[in-house]
Amino acid sequence: MNKPIIIAIDGVSGSGKSTMARTLAAKYNFMYVDTGAMYRAVTLYAIEKGYLTGDTLLKKQLIDDLPDIDICFDSDGHTLLCGIDVESKIRGMEVSSGVSKIATIPEVRSAMVDQQRKMSHSHSVVMDGRDIGTTVFPNADVKLYVTSSAEVRARRRLDELTAKGEKVEYDTILKNITERDYIDSSREVSPLTKAPDAIEIDNSHMSIEEQNSLINSIVEKHLSM
Ligand code: DC
Repeated sequence: MNKPIIIAIDGVSGSGKSTMARTLAAKYNFMYVDTGAMYRAVTLYAIEKGYLTGDTLLKKQLIDDLPDIDICFDSDGHTLLCGIDVESKIRGMEVSSGVSKIATIPEVRSAMVDQQRKMSHSHSVVMDGRDIGTTVFPNADVKLYVTSSAEVRARRRLDELTAKGEKVEYDTILKNITERDYIDSSREVSPLTKAPDAIEIDNSHMSIEEQNSLINSIVEKHLSM
């Protein structure tokens, strides 16, 4: 078997990393791994076990349970937590508000990083997150770092929510995005940073077609080397 290929995609929240990763994985028939979903699944586990309630976190109990927290993805890309499909639960507000607290625990990160590395042993993968090109796979074959301005991301999110019939203010979304950027890039453990050898893609003024054509040309160039 040829050596599995690793494509690492990092970047700010809401920059379209996961759409990009999904598109690439489907095109090349690689496995897509959404590492944010893994941190979300651990958060759901902590909530369901009663370890995370409001501002209280029973950290030791969660750390002790880490070897039993089995996370994987089914063929539709849905997240499975100990065999149960939790895809819709991990996208809800309760998990979204708790996840940054869980993602800063070094023991949780190290357990997730181990699982992420194992996933690449038998498959070529496209993995997206915050620390993939820096910590998980510093030797990834292709590294992309995706950004777009906070204002553009807020506008896109507003359009998505409005299309779903939700009423939210643009300023509220912008504030939330700015806060998340700050938390992701200023935390002590594995903060979001661009790996020196990552290719930066600022898609603030790019259409999806332009973005797809750019990333395809980057990946094609690598695969033909
Ligand atoms: O990408 P997302 O919004 O689903 O990520 C959820 C949370 O997990 C967010 O707080 C960032 C964090 N995360 C992380 O710390 N490291 C990763 N590799 C992926 C996500």
